[in-house]
Amino acid sequence: MPVTKKKPVKKSNTIKLKFDTSWSYDPAPESKSAATIKPQYDLFINGEWQKPLSNKYFATINPANEEKLSEVAEANTADVDKAVKAARNAYEKYWKKMPARERAKYVFRIARMVQEKARELAIIETLDGGKPIRESRDFDVPTAANHFFYYAGWADKLEYAFPNRKAEALGVAGQIIPWNFPLLMAAWKIAPAISTGNTVVLKTAETTPLTALKLAEIIEEADLPPGVVNIITGAGETGAAIVNHPDINKIAFTGSTDVGKIIQRAVAGTHKKVTLELGGKAANIIFEDAPIDQAVEGVINGIYFNQGHVCCAGSRLYVQESVAKQVIRKLKDRIESLIVGDPLDKNTDIGAINSRSQLETIQKYLKIGKQEGAEMYESSCPLPKKGFWCRPTLFTNVAQSNRIAQEEIFGPVLSILTFRTDDEVIEKANNSPYGLSAGVWTDKGSKIFNMTRRMRAGVIWANTFNKFDPSSPFGGYKESGFGREGGLHGLLPYLSLKV
Ligand code: NAI
Ligand code: MG
Repeated sequence: MPVTKKKPVKKSNTIKLKFDTSWSYDPAPESKSAATIKPQYDLFINGEWQKPLSNKYFATINPANEEKLSEVAEANTADVDKAVKAARNAYEKYWKKMPARERAKYVFRIARMVQEKARELAIIETLDGGKPIRESRDFDVPTAANHFFYYAGWADKLEYAFPNRKAEALGVAGQIIPWNFPLLMAAWKIAPAISTGNTVVLKTAETTPLTALKLAEIIEEADLPPGVVNIITGAGETGAAIVNHPDINKIAFTGSTDVGKIIQRAVAGTHKKVTLELGGKAANIIFEDAPIDQAVEGVINGIYFNQGHVCCAGSRLYVQESVAKQVIRKLKDRIESLIVGDPLDKNTDIGAINSRSQLETIQKYLKIGKQEGAEMYESSCPLPKKGFWCRPTLFTNVAQSNRIAQEEIFGPVLSILTFRTDDEVIEKANNSPYGLSAGVWTDKGSKIFNMTRRMRAGVIWANTFNKFDPSSPFGGYKESGFGREGGLHGLLPYLSLKV
């Protein structure tokens, strides 16, 4: 009898988990009717809505259904120049001369108005960027208001912040923000700048301009003197026009490391001060003595929060070998229960990916991870037909040198590695071009101090993750950028200190 050779079974390294359809939540959508979005927005320059000299507008869409929400102006070099002139004029004529306590009143007013309009701002943030309403409602908008409150409080207390020094504003600040926390990043940048007496030209990210434009409406209603805050829209070229404008004293940028490098080159040799808040590849470290369930929940929050569109996301997980099996099993179970879908639904855990191009970047890394030999697990939840979506995903069998362990993916994708000793994990955690944040999970206070002393990351969370407060400074080491935002430290980039 001829021996039939058995065909080798090709083992796929993608494992799909089974989605439990036996129960689900009823939809609980937030109503769109509480938000007003105009069909078209001009540029907010000198306290007025001005048509762009470029005569060009571009659409912003809802990434959850690809429908157009509005169109916004594309500022060219001449528009940027107009905005900078308005900011300079406001600075020289009244903002720098105004007593600090009077300036503070305006900032407090903006803070209160952000609170009053919180519901509308949260809905618009979710529509324009794709993040779950739970996050925009409970995190982005309240934290944005808190930043205005916090820095308003500092405005007339700078002599206490920097004793024996005379703190002076720098002049006009050019600020460029990304799409992952559009309103919050606008607040992070504008609040310390104007509280310290500077004036501002801020550019929003191209996919998420709407909440910053709503903030411009608030600023208009708050009667802030014209030109103190100018909010403009556009893409990379508009950003470059701000960076290269000769009458700007300070550049504040949050975004990709690639653009950060371009900006740093552009301002080298000029009088401009600069702070850069760039990418990250945070190590989240679980020791065997950690409260495991709490740690698993922290890891889930650390990477799947806001679709992983977070520069400080805990995208590298290091688990001590003795508990690795247990942790991975629990993580797989937990991602299976995450709800992916309509960002306006209050039950949704993971919303839409911000743009088609970001989705393509994430998908590219999923392919790279598999090619590198890592094992990929994704939840089995169904995805909506339209819009940009990615299931919560994790990779095991990842090597330290793999690209999925080294490069920023900026999506709901976790790379899991293991370790045995403290020294080993510190070396691995620090072996990264980035150094923005990290997390440590352990029962031992001494271990926390040992780790935080030796890890090179700007923020290290212990037995928690992704916690923010306006009074706490935030910023990176190495290619994650430099300068601090938040807290007393966040005042410094907007001041020159004289004796
Ligand atoms: P990006 O760095 O291009 O965009 C951020 C901001 O910079 C936007 O407002 C953009 O219009 C502006 N910009 C672009 N080119 C510029 C230039 N030459 N001069 C001045 N401003 C310029 O980021 P992108 O392309 O949206 O995302 C690419 C990757 O960057 C993401 O996949 C992620 O890894 C990372 N990223 C990191 C962020 C963070 O919070 N650190 C935020 C956004 C993206
Ligand atoms: Mg949009």
